[in-house]
Amino acid sequence: MLHVHILKAKDPAEVGKLAADQFEALINTKPACVLGLATGSSPLPLYRELIAREKAGKIDFSRVRSANLDEYKGLAPDHPQSYRYFMQENLFNHISIKPENTIVPDGLAADVDAMCAAYERQIEEWGGVDLQLLGIGHDGHIGFNEPDSQFSTMTHEMPLTQMTREANKRFFNSIDEVPTAAYTMGIGTVMAARKVVMIVTGRDKAEILKKSFFGPVTPEVPASILQFHPDVTVICDEAACELL
Ligand code: GLP
Repeated sequence: MLHVHILKAKDPAEVGKLAADQFEALINTKPACVLGLATGSSPLPLYRELIAREKAGKIDFSRVRSANLDEYKGLAPDHPQSYRYFMQENLFNHISIKPENTIVPDGLAADVDAMCAAYERQIEEWGGVDLQLLGIGHDGHIGFNEPDSQFSTMTHEMPLTQMTREANKRFFNSIDEVPTAAYTMGIGTVMAARKVVMIVTGRDKAEILKKSFFGPVTPEVPASILQFHPDVTVICDEAACELL
């Protein structure tokens, strides 16, 4: 039995508004909630909407905590392509969330196992993720959980596939600058969230969207595991829904 709710929107801007409604409802009922946040192009309309809604007095981020999905291995927080930098620029610098209440895996960690364990511990101490936001990669990756022979569990290091490095090179000067590995929450971390909201936009995501939710559950398509999550909402634009 599929528990996935699919909300279809006209375009990415409307996707952002529908996703923002989910965040607004949660934050207004649980002001100190824990958000799992994502990077990439897909969440940008949502982040713009959240900033606007706080400015309009509809949401208050001052007690919210957030844990990001992933970070490139080897990039410092002030590197313009790091995910920490992305979050600061596109969301955190414009809302009232407290810096100490935002965590992103440390791309420069000397002891990777300790960093990953501490990341999981912090989420646990906060009481777990209430709402996990996800985008999706063309190969079905969520966070940086690439296709694999088994589902990963907790936060860990992941080598990046050539497909993902190619897709993300648009943000770098050349493919050589795209890191070859990343730190990411595991599939287990994502599945532990109470609620999952996935944003999917663009015709280029139509095949993988269909495969993820209407194909077999397999670690070869990491997002397919979400078919087993009890509360998933996929918000997609018309282009991404074309094959559903
Ligand atoms: C990156 C991120 C993912 C994201 C994916 C898709 O690989 N690690 O979290 O979902 O890109 O990004 P976009 O939304 O730009 O297509």
